[in-house]
Amino acid sequence: MALKLRKLSYALGAEVCGVDVAMPMSESTFGEIYQAFLGHGILLFRDQDITRSQHIEFSRRFGALDRHETLPRDRHPDHPELLMVTNEPKPDGSPSDTKYTGRQWHSDMSFTTGPSLGSLLKSYEVPEVGGDTLFANMYAAYDALSGGMKKLIADLHGIHLSGTRKLANETTGIVRAEEQKRINPPVAQPVVRVHPETGRKALYIGEKVKRFDGMSEEESQPLIDYLVRHATQPEFLYRHQWRKNDILAWDNRCVMHQALGDFDETQLRHMERTTILGTPSGYVAT
Ligand code: OGA
Ligand code: MN
Repeated sequence: MALKLRKLSYALGAEVCGVDVAMPMSESTFGEIYQAFLGHGILLFRDQDITRSQHIEFSRRFGALDRHETLPRDRHPDHPELLMVTNEPKPDGSPSDTKYTGRQWHSDMSFTTGPSLGSLLKSYEVPEVGGDTLFANMYAAYDALSGGMKKLIADLHGIHLSGTRKLANETTGIVRAEEQKRINPPVAQPVVRVHPETGRKALYIGEKVKRFDGMSEEESQPLIDYLVRHATQPEFLYRHQWRKNDILAWDNRCVMHQALGDFDETQLRHMERTTILGTPSGYVAT
């Protein structure tokens, strides 16, 4: 079967048309989907009115799933393979722990030595307008750097911290951030990461990076800021406008993303994510 693909933006992403991910799918069809995933960095599947188990089963085709032990507060109570990203208040009326998930440029699980291969986020409830997610093509960002800058960053490692959200939940945010820091010590990741499957170089940076290994924060911050600004120029981006029952799959090894807070917070936004385990990368920074 030839997949029907529609590009989502100049920089990255493709919609896979006419596929119901809950239907039985041959190895060869999934192989085409996986090749498209490697080639486009993001795949969108619209109108996937499927169950949680079906979301999990389809995700497993990409690889073994994270059970989110490093993010214990954010897991679905019955399905540890699902990470909740929701602004729905808790049953006791207190604000959700994951209300501000992803509100900074990042790549999922970069703060661990087993950062994620990819993530599949499904939308259940979306606000009337906004609540968009921005994605950046980090191959393109790397390729566009000058030879001098490529040389300068070739051997740098960025120290990624967990629990660094700019916005914190009013009541549990601080406790959560402290907990996150305890569970996840700082991890150094190469700033230039060779994609284990395509062999291409991609920038691996973001707003969880606080400094470079062997350098002070003061020395590092200007270059971190530059690299994030460089990588997030409009021509490297795709902005996803969610509809209910979208599944968006992205490759964390060559794409970074950010949740935008461009919506009315009194409206419900509820998403659930599976996280595909990746190959080892980086080291615990001491
Ligand atoms: C995530 C994430 C972005 C969003 O699920 O990993 O960063 O827009 N979510 O909800
Ligand atoms: Mn994320």
